[in-house]
Amino acid sequence: MASCLRRYCRRILCCCSPCMLLLPVYLYVTMALFFAMKYSTPIGGPTVYSVLPLRFVASGLKHSSDLAPHPEKSFWKTELESGALWNFIQHVTDRQNNPILRPGLATSANLSSNLATGKGTGCSPDSEIISKIPDYSTLPTLMKNFVTAMHCRDYPLIIAPEDVCDHGPLAKIRAPVLLLAIKTQTANFENREAIRQTWGRTGMVRGQGRQGLVRRVFLLGKTEDLHTEKELQLEANEYGDIIQWDFMDTFFNLTLKDVLFWDWFSRLCPHAHFIFKGDDDVFVRMPAVLDYLLKEEEKADERPSKEPTQPNEMEGFVVGDVINNAMPIRSNGTKYYIPESFYKGLYPSYPGGGGVVYSGSLAHRLFEVSQWVHIFPIDDVYLGMCLKRLGVSPIHHPAFLTFDFPKEESKDPCANHTILLVHKRSPAEMFRLWNETSMPSSKCRNATLRVKPRVD
Ligand SMILES: *[C@@H]1O[C@H](CO)[C@@H](O)[C@H](O)[C@H]1NC(C)=O
Ligand SMILES: *[C@@H]1O[C@H](CO)[C@@H](O)[C@H](O)[C@H]1NC(C)=O
Ligand SMILES: *[C@@H]1O[C@H](CO)[C@@H](O)[C@H](O)[C@H]1NC(C)=O
Ligand SMILES: *[C@@H]1O[C@H](CO)[C@@H](O)[C@H](O)[C@H]1NC(C)=O
Ligand SMILES: *[C@@H]1O[C@H](CO)[C@@H](O)[C@H](O)[C@H]1NC(C)=O
Ligand SMILES: *[C@@H]1O[C@H](CO)[C@@H](O)[C@H](O)[C@H]1NC(C)=O
Repeated sequence: MASCLRRYCRRILCCCSPCMLLLPVYLYVTMALFFAMKYSTPIGGPTVYSVLPLRFVASGLKHSSDLAPHPEKSFWKTELESGALWNFIQHVTDRQNNPILRPGLATSANLSSNLATGKGTGCSPDSEIISKIPDYSTLPTLMKNFVTAMHCRDYPLIIAPEDVCDHGPLAKIRAPVLLLAIKTQTANFENREAIRQTWGRTGMVRGQGRQGLVRRVFLLGKTEDLHTEKELQLEANEYGDIIQWDFMDTFFNLTLKDVLFWDWFSRLCPHAHFIFKGDDDVFVRMPAVLDYLLKEEEKADERPSKEPTQPNEMEGFVVGDVINNAMPIRSNGTKYYIPESFYKGLYPSYPGGGGVVYSGSLAHRLFEVSQWVHIFPIDDVYLGMCLKRLGVSPIHHPAFLTFDFPKEESKDPCANHTILLVHKRSPAEMFRLWNETSMPSSKCRNATLRVKPRVD
């Protein structure tokens, strides 16, 4: 009798232990399904896209010298970051596009189908969002306007240049080495004119060694001043270098210039080797920039790829004045003010928006990944957010002076010959600098690029 019982016990155990072992798996799947369903209706309605870009990692990739690149946060994290609106919306978007929770989504990087289905959800102001942000009524007007319009990135072109880059069979051969994309506003005619006549000249531009083809576009939104708008149209007819979109050109709308420019670029100038994106009040020592870029390109071509399947390393090339571990500015009254109710946490590393250069192949990837990153009001921080998701670390170059020279260094007679870019310069200073740097005195002819900030 006893042995019989024992036999039954053993049989029951035999049957059940696999079930017991699988129990955690069942539990996990149930919970995953539960959370996937619970959070699949986002507030503010971020668009659901059907295809993910290649090498997309929801929370961002981390690089360290000891380990292979790995996701920054736990891939399975289920709780929402509470409190801050942007973090919440992004969390929902990440959850919806988690390639493991929703495997059907992650197929290939084909965006054409995506653009047809994902967009066009309407761009009227979203008044429901107001209830999601408790201190809405105390926010500065600019932030209020941003929040109610931030679901939209679907603005049509008002002015579009025709022939910035070659089309057709020769498009690739005649592609510019460098495409300048300069953020400007309708009223800043003088800045644009100074740039056209100095560092932003187009055509074949000679570096110190070789030369390269340079093209230029200015990126603008619209204003309410009908008179200057009319003048802008005339300017566009004359120079063919104006791109204007149908959104109000305000500080918090600058990110739209990035995402809409990436879209324009991928359709109309997709073969440019590099893109310079910057402000209209910087001076760029163009021959030095061209030399630097052509050299980087050559280095990348010469380095043998470890595996044939590995992507070209230029796909991750972005250089500028990199800002690490920045905190959002919490004081009401500055133009960079971001309330805690909107964003929590540090900003990712990002190159300062005064001037940054990235490869054309990276621009294509930025265009793709940006569709999974919710619009953020500060454009250079947004670039950092997209780079992080691609696992790309921006390169810091001390010759990008987005905060001008340290005081002592500006007295160095050759200081202006050691830079790639300096912010802020008026149109008159641009002309002076252009003259000075095009014809360096014999003393400064051998000046080399700044290597690291000198300590005063
Ligand atoms: C992407 O879509 C286009 C047009 O629908 C199609 O021609 C192309 O083959 C697709 N590419 C891939 C990789 O699926
Ligand atoms: C921010 O400033 C505005 C006016 O500039 C004020 O009405 C509002 O109360 C301030 N908000 C906070 C959180 O201090
Ligand atoms: C951005 O532009 C849109 C469309 O013109 C406008 O509705 C919105 O208020 C603007 N945002 C800001 C922050 O000015
Ligand atoms: C460098 O350029 C600035 C104009 O931006 C000018 O004021 C300064 O004098 C120049 N430095 C030298 C040493 O020429
Ligand atoms: C720059 O040089 C040109 C010719 O060399 C001269 O005509 C012009 O006045 C100079 N501009 C400035 C701002 O020094
Ligand atoms: C600049 O470099 C050249 C060649 O490298 C050298 O012959 C010349 O003496 C240098 N001039 C100065 C002022 O250092």
